[in-house]
Amino acid sequence: MPAMTKPTLNDVQDYWNRHPAGAAEVAHLRADRIKYFDERDRQTSLLYPTLAEDYEFDRTNGRRTLELGCGMGYNAQCLGRAGANLTVMDLAPQAVQLTKERFALRNLKADFLVADAENLPFRSEAFDEVFSSGVIHHSPDTNAAAKQIERILKPEGNISVMLYHKNSLWYWWDIVIKLGLMMAAVNYAPKFIRSWLLQRMPHWKDLVMPAGQRLTLNDVVRSGTDFGGLQNPISRVYTHQTSRDLFSGLRDFRFISNFSATGALQDPKTLKSKLIGPIVDRLNRRWGFHLMIRAKK
Ligand SMILES: C[S@@+](CC[C@H](N)C(=O)[O-])C[C@H]1O[C@@H](n2cnc3c(N)ncnc32)[C@H](O)[C@@H]1O
Repeated sequence: MPAMTKPTLNDVQDYWNRHPAGAAEVAHLRADRIKYFDERDRQTSLLYPTLAEDYEFDRTNGRRTLELGCGMGYNAQCLGRAGANLTVMDLAPQAVQLTKERFALRNLKADFLVADAENLPFRSEAFDEVFSSGVIHHSPDTNAAAKQIERILKPEGNISVMLYHKNSLWYWWDIVIKLGLMMAAVNYAPKFIRSWLLQRMPHWKDLVMPAGQRLTLNDVVRSGTDFGGLQNPISRVYTHQTSRDLFSGLRDFRFISNFSATGALQDPKTLKSKLIGPIVDRLNRRWGFHLMIRAKK
């Protein structure tokens, strides 16, 4: 069996450059840049109705703030609107470009740069606030990125960092059980069954391991946490305890979890999502897949 090579920072950069988070959902509007960003904002507010409350963007007014891993820039925009003295960065040039464009359209200001969270090009104790949503668990060395965040934070400075939550409904049910079974079926079923499955579900091709490689739980997790399936090089999940360990130089931890019920973007809503959605939303306030870590230096 060939040895699996470890994904590199270049692999991560290349993947996110080709798949900016959220861009696929609004690709049909890309010719009209105003509608493109407006629609992404509308979708984000439906998917995460408690985002502003959870992140408390308003507390950044006038404070030196870093948005680390901006993606398409929705959170950066909230920080810009809150009056943060803002620096915005991402490893993927495409993400920085999209966020710059969004800021120009909205008449907002920030400093922008392409940079690596594992090697931040800022002096120590440069920021009052570091925001980062769904970023460092995709980096080859998440621990190094966490130490860099601690380094650039001023004493008494705060972090709001979202990592994927291991103790969540979505992780155990949707990823480990449902997706795990699907991937086992498509990777280990006899050849004729696999061909039959792929004919019916062509998008499952991104769930097929390279020839000779064994499927692991890591493969299921990375496939279940972005639309690219196995093209997504790395995703990790954290508990309250393992995220405290990750940020061992910080204190006063507070955890908030959320996740959108499937069907948040459905219009009109199905009866199932009308009935089950509100219950799942409530459960997700404790066992949601997005675990926001708030802590102080
Ligand atoms: C799932 S997207 C999240 C984007 C955005 N924060 C959001 O909430 O939509 C992950 C982002 O992390 C960035 N990223 C991954 N590893 C990184 C690293 N080492 N340094 C900086 N950004 C990184 C990717 O380029 C990508 O834009």
